[in-house]
Amino acid sequence: MNLIIETANKLEGKITVPGDKSISHRSVMLGALAHGITEVSGFLMGEDCLSTIKCFRSLGVNIEVTPDKVLIEGRGLDGLKEPVDILDVGNSGTTIRLLSGILAGQNFASFLTGDSSIRKRPMARIIQPLTLMGAKILGRGNNTLAPLAIRGGELKAIEYTTEIASAQVKSAILLAGLFADGWTGVTQPEKSRDHTEIMLKAFGAQVKEQDKTVMVKGRPRLKGLKVIVPGDISSAAFFLAAGAICPQSFLTICGVGLNPTRTGIIDVLKQMGAKIDIRNTCDSGGEPMGDITIESSNLQGIKVYGDMIPRLIDEIPVIAVLGACASGITEIRDAQELKVKESNRLSAMATQLVRMGAKIEELPDGLRVYGGRKLTGALCESYHDHRIAMALAVAGLVAQDRTVIKDAEAINVSFPGFVNTLRAIGAPVREGQ
Ligand code: S3P
Repeated sequence: MNLIIETANKLEGKITVPGDKSISHRSVMLGALAHGITEVSGFLMGEDCLSTIKCFRSLGVNIEVTPDKVLIEGRGLDGLKEPVDILDVGNSGTTIRLLSGILAGQNFASFLTGDSSIRKRPMARIIQPLTLMGAKILGRGNNTLAPLAIRGGELKAIEYTTEIASAQVKSAILLAGLFADGWTGVTQPEKSRDHTEIMLKAFGAQVKEQDKTVMVKGRPRLKGLKVIVPGDISSAAFFLAAGAICPQSFLTICGVGLNPTRTGIIDVLKQMGAKIDIRNTCDSGGEPMGDITIESSNLQGIKVYGDMIPRLIDEIPVIAVLGACASGITEIRDAQELKVKESNRLSAMATQLVRMGAKIEELPDGLRVYGGRKLTGALCESYHDHRIAMALAVAGLVAQDRTVIKDAEAINVSFPGFVNTLRAIGAPVREGQ
């Protein structure tokens, strides 16, 4: 499917975005390992989270999906069953990495694969610590790539220091730590999103945090609960950017997750000079949420780097678009992880924004974006990457003439309803061939 975008004259309205992807995945995983029912509202019905549901059903967990809730019948820490077939995670890095942590603690064999993007993504980062804990894991490419074969069992607690700030790696180790006796600890170079820690506590596990180290105590008795998933700030980010760069715009996005490990995009928008306001804040199971309002703004280029990067890791494609529309230079550094996401997001954004008339240099660990050039519509590649497709759609709204984005069905990975939400605020967008 192609996405066809014309220039937007004005964006206006009050919208919501689908549930947070990270929290949705974790609600199924912890719900499956808990005792009793976990009832999730606001669950993201995107392809990635549906892959997690499918994998846990294959592990013997009853999961009921209704239009407004997901109900997970917990089986306790030791209640998963050996799957009769290969588990397919689709496009979902969170599913394969976090699930591997859980499977490392199971006294049976499991096999995991995913789509062509997943089979290129680095897995040594989870294979190494999980092997140290006692799991036997085999992967392609000398144990670095999926498909993976996992023979789990008796795990021992470890204290592990990671080279990268990755919530997926941290969470895989913490989830494996649930099956080991004693405290399992992970130390990261920077703090990464802490949804696993927050939800583990809510389900009744003991979790300790000090500086950049997180520890979980093994063999807890988790108890099913009601989870309300806030809107995904990473999905809201496309609308925040669109509202800031399109003329005469005024948008409110309601019920967005505002966990401080995720709000780097708000700090970036503020630093760039955007008119942004947060209201009606509240707490949902330890996760803050609120309504965000954004208006058309004159943006200035800034530098984005260091410990800010993990707090906006998924927003870098759309920050590149903001940079192209700002005055001056926007430089993104310390973002080499972007090369091993669903696509190489640094080269994807550099090549596609250049096609639209921007001036961008790709750096070894980021992008240098020279702002202030008028963008022109173009035929763009999405690289089958949901966030590249949506970031380019936002660029298309301020480009002169029509922009066409190829393979835009990838958007369903994290944001089913993206096109309808854009239309609801007056954006001239449609699906085509
Ligand atoms: C996620 C962590 C991040 C992020 C991904 C979701 C998670 O990945 O990019 O979209 O849910 O833990 P890394 O941990 O690899 O940085």
